[in-house]
Amino acid sequence: MTPTLHLGQTLSFDANPFEAGIAAARHQRHGGLVVDGGRILAIGAGDAMRAAYPAADTVDHGAGLIVPGFVDAHAHYPQTAMIASWGKRLIDWLNDYTFPEEMRFADPGYARDIAGRYLDLLLAHGTTTVCSFCTIHPDSVDALFEAAEARGMRVFAGKTCMDRDTAPAGLRDTAQSAYDDSAALLARWHGRGRASYVITPRFSPTSTPGQLQALGALWAEHPDCLMQTHLSEQVDETAWVKSLYPDARDYLDTYESHGLLGAGGLYGHAIHLEPRERDRLREVGAGLVHCPTSNTFIGSGLFDMDGLMREGQRIGLATDTGGGSSFSMLRTMAAAYEIAQLRHRALHGSELLWLATQGSARALRCDHLTGNLAPGLEADFTVLDLASTPAIAQRSTHADDIWETLFATIMMGDDRAIASTWVGGRKAGPVMQKAGERK
Ligand code: GUN
Ligand code: ZN
Repeated sequence: MTPTLHLGQTLSFDANPFEAGIAAARHQRHGGLVVDGGRILAIGAGDAMRAAYPAADTVDHGAGLIVPGFVDAHAHYPQTAMIASWGKRLIDWLNDYTFPEEMRFADPGYARDIAGRYLDLLLAHGTTTVCSFCTIHPDSVDALFEAAEARGMRVFAGKTCMDRDTAPAGLRDTAQSAYDDSAALLARWHGRGRASYVITPRFSPTSTPGQLQALGALWAEHPDCLMQTHLSEQVDETAWVKSLYPDARDYLDTYESHGLLGAGGLYGHAIHLEPRERDRLREVGAGLVHCPTSNTFIGSGLFDMDGLMREGQRIGLATDTGGGSSFSMLRTMAAAYEIAQLRHRALHGSELLWLATQGSARALRCDHLTGNLAPGLEADFTVLDLASTPAIAQRSTHADDIWETLFATIMMGDDRAIASTWVGGRKAGPVMQKAGERK
């Protein structure tokens, strides 16, 4: 296969900027990224790459900034059509908006429509990998993985399991059917192409102890799978968990005591944590997923990014669509910045971009595959237009370095800042649908 040389500015990571500072990020003003067979072959100065690969096809992105494709570590694709629903806090928001919409996924055709719409929105926003909840309907999982396969995307997803009467009758499974359906979907999808199955109890309030136990047993049988759920998102919710699980030491214990705490565990929100919970999450190397636009939109609270990072937690970043109010990881980085400011910690642009790429990929335990620009990794990358609107362009002309320029796009950018998105070396979007034009 002829390699392709992408010319432009490049930004990649040699280390974690939370640990190594700004030097962890490597910027090339005139960079080159060489892609072959869907993987990154080399990255370096544009001239050097051109000399090393003289036969490569060339795509010139001009002043565009090539960054790793964004990795959204927690989302609910079935909530695409009810994103930005007004005025509720978590429990009422679930009952009044979320559950009625999720019931519509009993229709596999509706699930397919939304799955395709959702992934196209993600690609338009520069996101190349997502970890998503589906609904209780197994067809909703097939719909997302099929749509991801058609687009070549690395996607993590699982059937949402709920068997308690706290969930409406139309959205309930049983402990046994949750186990059986999850096991069948896992067998069908896990490791097929770029698909990864994720065992998915929604959260303790909508599962019986029996269901949590059954899903813990399934995880023990498939320890290479991830497990995703929610943890300590709102204070009311933690009180509810205490009343439903009176013997549990804390919210995390409702998972831990049923085999649902481990290195491949992904715990969305993780805001109102007890010291014991923090210790246990760190000890096992679990993934904590920060969902900043959701945490402000639903009024949940302020994630302790600085404290959790300092104590060595594994942290990813996510939209939490549609509790989150945006599909954009740029907007999500901006919200993470704003929340950290309220806790008196100014996150640097390198830290924000790292969270949205490497950090999330580490939480999803796929950083050896994607989430950075480095030889051997899959060629998932996004090209940013750093002057995508007049407001951003005028700010950029007053910027002294790449970080000041990029920060304006992080704070004010949206899908207009995404010049193009590349998945496994192929350009996403309309070009992908026209066979002859594939790169
Ligand atoms: N907790 C349980 N389910 C959900 C959900 O769909 N969204 C959010 N934000 N929190 C939840
Ligand atoms: Zn969620």
